[in-house]
Amino acid sequence: MNFLKTMVSVSVIAIASANAAQAEKLTLYCSAQEDWCQLMANTFENTTGIDVAMTRKSSGETFAQIKAESSNPKGDVWWGGTGDPHLQAAEEGLTASYVSPMRDQLHPWAISQAVSANNKTIGIYSGALGYGYNTDLLAANSLPAPTSWADLTKPVYKGHVQMANPNSSGTAYTTLATMMQLFGEDGGFDYMKGLHANINQYTKSGSAPIKAAGRGETTIGIVFMHDAVKQAVAGFPVKVVAPAEGTGYEIGSMSIIDGARNMDEAKIFYDWALSADAQNLALQVNAFQVPSNMGAQTSDSAPDMSSIKLIDYDFKTYGSSATRKRLLKKWDDEVSVLPQ
Ligand code: G6P
Repeated sequence: MNFLKTMVSVSVIAIASANAAQAEKLTLYCSAQEDWCQLMANTFENTTGIDVAMTRKSSGETFAQIKAESSNPKGDVWWGGTGDPHLQAAEEGLTASYVSPMRDQLHPWAISQAVSANNKTIGIYSGALGYGYNTDLLAANSLPAPTSWADLTKPVYKGHVQMANPNSSGTAYTTLATMMQLFGEDGGFDYMKGLHANINQYTKSGSAPIKAAGRGETTIGIVFMHDAVKQAVAGFPVKVVAPAEGTGYEIGSMSIIDGARNMDEAKIFYDWALSADAQNLALQVNAFQVPSNMGAQTSDSAPDMSSIKLIDYDFKTYGSSATRKRLLKKWDDEVSVLPQ
């Protein structure tokens, strides 16, 4: 009898701890740089004891995955990546509303991202688009130093420019949307066609082109300027360019996935990720974005946003489901199919 009682209580404890173990986990979809994603996941795990299963995929890819899983969501939080697909996810009901108590610590640009999406997303960092080039390769090929967007379409750079595919990559979608805003839709597509003639490869991930430039595999990579700075700081011969015409920027964002299985843990992560301490982790991995928490530190190496000619990027339009779908289809149909 006593044995039976013991067995019952042992199994009650076993079930209770199984439930606790089950409750204390988080599935994190991450669209920032792999090393930053890893550091965020590990530090959160060590700080809270909540197990984190993290996967890194580009912004457009993560959006597509969350959409594909929407009838049976597997992820809890989507952290990082450009804001446009986060806004599209909010509009399509793929992400959940949450008003964090941490909000009053954030810059207005981070909150405006939330306000425009019924609190289904929020800004965690920002950074300007630009490009970088390998100074050794430029010299070896006797190429002039490019300074503008227009320069990149000149025949002299044929085969020397790399960017990501705007379907998978938020960086490349930001590039496409930036050209629409700088040159108008017709002019913007003409620009993308001119650029296409010089592209040696469309990569899946947004920062891959500047990593390739650092290694000497392409001369020029179109990326966020902070990703180019990271290569330069790592010692690669990379020069960072803020294009003369002006440029777009991202509000890197975070969203809780609608129907998250671990909603409590998702909110704990969300609040933590908005804290100055969590955002300061960026400095450890040379992630040179501007953090959204006003108390977090911005590295001295970070591109100075106030000295860059930024366009008034229309997140509402370019993050809308209709516009993003339409522009990507048009790019697929009219640009990517052209001969090079
Ligand atoms: C890099 C940048 C981030 C950006 C992300 C988007 O990781 O450092 O600031 O949000 O690219 O990634 P994607 O692969 O979607 O272009």
